[in-house]
Amino acid sequence: MKVLIFGASGLLGKALMREWQGDTLVGLTSRDADIRNSDLVKQVVQQHRPDWIVLSAAYTDVDGCESNQDLAFSVNCDGAANVAKAAKACDAKLLFLSSDYVFDGTKNSPYEAGDRRNPQSVYGRTKADAEERLLNILPDCCIARTSWLFGVGGKCFPDTILKLAATKPTLDVVSDQRGSPTYVIDLARAIAELCRRDARGIVHVTNSGECTWFDFARAIVACAGFTTEIRPTTSAQMARPAPRPAYSVLSPKSLHAWKVDMPDWRDALARYFAERSSVLA
Ligand SMILES: NC(=O)c1ccc[n+]([C@@H]2O[C@H](COP(=O)([O-])OP(=O)(O)OC[C@H]3O[C@@H](n4cnc5c(N)ncnc54)[C@H](OP(=O)(O)O)[C@@H]3O)[C@@H](O)[C@H]2O)c1
Repeated sequence: MKVLIFGASGLLGKALMREWQGDTLVGLTSRDADIRNSDLVKQVVQQHRPDWIVLSAAYTDVDGCESNQDLAFSVNCDGAANVAKAAKACDAKLLFLSSDYVFDGTKNSPYEAGDRRNPQSVYGRTKADAEERLLNILPDCCIARTSWLFGVGGKCFPDTILKLAATKPTLDVVSDQRGSPTYVIDLARAIAELCRRDARGIVHVTNSGECTWFDFARAIVACAGFTTEIRPTTSAQMARPAPRPAYSVLSPKSLHAWKVDMPDWRDALARYFAERSSVLA
């Protein structure tokens, strides 16, 4: 099987390129093909004629999306639609990466794949709109919603906490947002499995278990052996341009339906530390 990855230079894209074994992978960055350019996208897809396209490329700066709405919609919505149209023209299957931020966070039990989208941020709206457009263009496409990505080789929450904890005795971290951290290595493996199983429809793909950012920061500091004190704070006290859902745990039922399972985030965090040490060694 031949797989074309848009967003191969991103946090997830790098993990996909490294972890996906046994198939032919072609990775593209924005320099190879800007997904806003429909002709170019059509051209590269026709050139490679993949069986599957994984669309991981996106404008992912959640706060930046609030002040750059045109850019956010042109990349995350129009760009995604360009890729879907090119996939359709070449008879390729498409897996699109979406986000827990399509939900408003008012539930207090895990979101199911069919739950109503009600994004609260510009980024969330771009992803929710893209999902609807893609399902219109390619009704059999696979939409993989994920959350709180972390991994080696890019900006992520554990990396930020480790850098801060190395110099500060205390850190304030929000304890009123609950979700599921997801290791890009586990996500990349699950995506490869979903493609092999010809998955379609909306699938929730996160590490299992849930926590707050405060819990996550405490686990990171403990794993690193730092004595930094992590103090709970609120989203109101740490106001940011884009609102985040207070609760965005995604139910794994839609993933289990494809016979794919994800490890617990704490187990994933331990493996992240091992990977990090091997890279830094
Ligand atoms: N990070 C999270 O916590 C999170 C949570 C939920 C869902 N997701 C979704 O998961 C996917 C992967 O996220 P990530 O964290 O790996 O993203 P990332 O590290 O920010 O990487 C983004 C990728 O998109 C590419 N890209 C950006 N604009 C482009 C354009 N106009 N044309 C073509 N390529 C473009 C970048 O290429 P260059 O390097 O060439 O710029 C890069 O390869 C995204 O769809 C994101 O929305 C992420």
